[in-house]
Amino acid sequence: MTITWEWRGAVRNEEINGLHAEGFDHAQAADDWTDRLSRLSLGWVTARDDQGLVGFVNVIWDGHAHAFIEDTLVASRARRRGIGKRLVAVATEHSREAGCEWLHVDFDDHLKSFYFDACGFRPTSAGLIQLSGPR
Ligand SMILES: CC(C)(COP(=O)(O)OP(=O)(O)OC[C@H]1O[C@@H](n2cnc3c(N)ncnc32)[C@H](O)[C@@H]1OP(=O)(O)O)[C@@H](O)C(=O)NCCC(=O)NCCS
Repeated sequence: MTITWEWRGAVRNEEINGLHAEGFDHAQAADDWTDRLSRLSLGWVTARDDQGLVGFVNVIWDGHAHAFIEDTLVASRARRRGIGKRLVAVATEHSREAGCEWLHVDFDDHLKSFYFDACGFRPTSAGLIQLSGPR
């Protein structure tokens, strides 16, 4: 399978909404990703094969030193083939080229081996406050 990788490549809202619904197990939304990405992201990485968008990761930032990985997504049909690892590697390289000093991520425990072992993140202390929903 040949995969095409792009940084800040063209992507349609329906494509990301579809991957997001599948990856996070919810009904497909109608979010305006193209607007959100163009206004708020340092960049994003797309992976495409002959069937379409197979991987996506968003990189948001503080406009200076800190970049943050969000919404790492690989289509179910293509998982465990190294696509997620490569998405994060491309995001890491472009964040470095943009002058960022730190790349952050947070994730559920079951993905420790993906982010620590496969992608090269190191553990750190971090914090989180849930701002909506049950407290
Ligand atoms: C997490 C995700 C992006 C990984 O993508 P992927 O392309 O399957 O990952 P890779 O093939 O690059 O995995 C590289 C290594 O990471 C580890 N890994 C990947 N997915 C894992 C999982 N679900 N559980 C445990 N380890 C995992 C494995 O060690 C894997 O190597 P191996 O296949 O040789 O064992 C994908 O499973 C996904 O889209 N999940 C649903 C959405 C999600 O939870 N995203 C993360 C939000 S923080």
